[in-house]
Amino acid sequence: MGLCVGKRRTPELQALRDKNIPIIWVLGGPGSGKGTQCEKMVKRYGFGHLSSGDLLRDEVASGSPKGKELNEMMQKGILVPREVVLDLIKQAILKKLANANGFLIDGYPREVEQGEDFEKVIAPCSIILYFEVPDEVMIERLLNRAKSSGRVDDNEETIKKRLETFHKVSKPVMQKYASKTVTIDAQGSADEIFKVCKANVDKCLKTLGQPVPPN
Ligand code: AP5
Ligand code: MG
Repeated sequence: MGLCVGKRRTPELQALRDKNIPIIWVLGGPGSGKGTQCEKMVKRYGFGHLSSGDLLRDEVASGSPKGKELNEMMQKGILVPREVVLDLIKQAILKKLANANGFLIDGYPREVEQGEDFEKVIAPCSIILYFEVPDEVMIERLLNRAKSSGRVDDNEETIKKRLETFHKVSKPVMQKYASKTVTIDAQGSADEIFKVCKANVDKCLKTLGQPVPPN
C-alpha cells in the first residue's frame, strides 16, 4: 500500500477534472444507509462507488501488516490515518475512471481535513448527500446487521464509539461544506430515501450539463 500522498493536485487525475462529472460525497453516521443508497444510485446512474470502509476492509483482507493495524483501529471505532484512506480512494478512482459517469465517495471525508485533502489532491466535490438518522435507529439497524455481517465493528461497544466519532469528528464536515450539503431525513424506507437522492442527483447532473437518465 502506497502511503505517500502529496498535497498537490495530481496530474494523473486531470482526466477526472476534465470530465466534469459529479463527485458526490455520501455521508452519515454508522448504519445511516450510505451503502444501501449508493447501490441504488450505481444502478440508476452508472457511477463508480467507492466506500472508504470497504477499501479498508479489502486492505485488511489482503493480510498485509498494515491491514492488521487498520483492523485494530476499525475495531475501536476510531478513524484510520487520513493519508492511508486518501491514497486508497485515489487509486480506486484511477482504476474506475474510464468507465464511470460520476463518483460516489461513501464514508469520506470523515473529518474536515480529509475534505480539504480531497479537494486539493483529487477534485472539488459537486454535492454532499448527508443521511440524517437518530442514534437509536442507527444502533438498531447495526445490531440487526451484526447477526450476519461478520464485521469487527458491528457490536454494541464499537457502535457506541463509532457514533461518538461521528458526532465529534465527522459532523463538522457538514457544517464546513454547508452550501454543498443536502440533508436527507433517512429514517424512512430505502425506496423513499432513494426518491430524495434521485431528485438531488438529477439536479446535480443538469447543473453540470450531464445527461439525466430517463425515469
Ligand atoms: P464504514 O464501513 O464506512 O462504516 P460506517 O460509516 O460505520 O457505516 P456502515 O457501512 O456500517 O453503514 P452505512 O451507512 O453504509 O449503512 P448500510 O447501508 O450498510 O467505516 C468503518 C470504519 O472504517 C470506520 O469506523 C473507521 O474506522 C474506518 N473508516 C472508514 N472510512 C474512513 C475515513 N474516511 N477515514 C478514516 N477512517 C475511516 O445500512 C446499515 C444496515 O441498515 C443494513 O443492514 C441495511 O440493510 C439497513 N438499512 C439501510 N437503509 C435502511 C432503511 N432505510 N431502513 C431500514 N434499514 C435500512
Ligand atoms: Mg457502508
